[in-house]
Amino acid sequence: MENRDARLIEDILRLKRQRKAIILAHNYQLGEVQDIADFVGDSLELSQKAAKTDADVIVFCGVHFMAETASILCPDKVVLLPDIHAGCPMADMITAEGLRERKRELPGAIVVCYINSSAEVKAESDVCCTSANAVKVVESLDSEEILFVPDQYLGHYISTKTDKRISLWPGFCPTHIRIQPQYITSLRQEHPQARVAVHPECRPEVIVLADEVLSTGGLCRYASRSEVKEMIVGTEIGIIHRLRKENPGKKFIPASEQAICPRMKLITLERVLWSLQEMAPEVKVPQEIRLKAKAAVDKMLEIGRS
Ligand code: 13P
Ligand code: SF4
Repeated sequence: MENRDARLIEDILRLKRQRKAIILAHNYQLGEVQDIADFVGDSLELSQKAAKTDADVIVFCGVHFMAETASILCPDKVVLLPDIHAGCPMADMITAEGLRERKRELPGAIVVCYINSSAEVKAESDVCCTSANAVKVVESLDSEEILFVPDQYLGHYISTKTDKRISLWPGFCPTHIRIQPQYITSLRQEHPQARVAVHPECRPEVIVLADEVLSTGGLCRYASRSEVKEMIVGTEIGIIHRLRKENPGKKFIPASEQAICPRMKLITLERVLWSLQEMAPEVKVPQEIRLKAKAAVDKMLEIGRS
């Protein structure tokens, strides 16, 4: 380990103890950030972890909607996002006003919002979901008519798994759409033994070529199964760090080296240390929005428990 990292890590861990903080990191974070986290996971696992922690401070190494979800669930804790510019471009593709307008056009529909959305959009939704539980959430609802926002591709994937009528919002992940179907086809030819596992934010043409369609947490669990020796990984490449670390001896091939989420990479060790020193930037959802958004998040967590 370089001296720079050793010094930074020592300072982060010391301050973390002083502040009674927990560090949560998403599976797409830089390897150096994943390595100092108390917990690394997908959006669902991270929200569950945030809901349960008894720490005073949550340092959220991920993107803005993830820190907001922690603030929605833990209003008494300080939630820090080490770089305030770390927003998810897909979440920015819908506003609360835009959603209100669409709801007026579809008065009978239940609104399911992907967790990759702002607190204001969650507050306008009936229930939230993540990539790990989207099909289960939609299937559990009484209504046959669903408005799914904002990811059209996750929404399309769900529509292939349910008989419910799903209206889509035209949002997408700029990182996952970089994964082209021809990359999967040619990697399969090069690695005929490999299993292909992709994230449901990928385009439908990519999804039909996959053996498995999973959340990032699901991809990690799948990789550790004994029969998987080689895996073509169709998601953001930050996950490769965790896959290789947890499965030495197995082979992980990114479907595209271009599948990088630049906002996720804004969080560095320096930023984490600075954030703990300054106790900033803090993400706090105003109470009125928080209570409405919490109803949608709680409903998702309840469905997960049933
Ligand atoms: P997961 O919930 O599967 O970790 O996905 C979050 C995300 O932002 C994918 O791009
Ligand atoms: Fe948002 Fe895509 Fe980045 Fe996930 S990978 S945080 S959906 S831009």
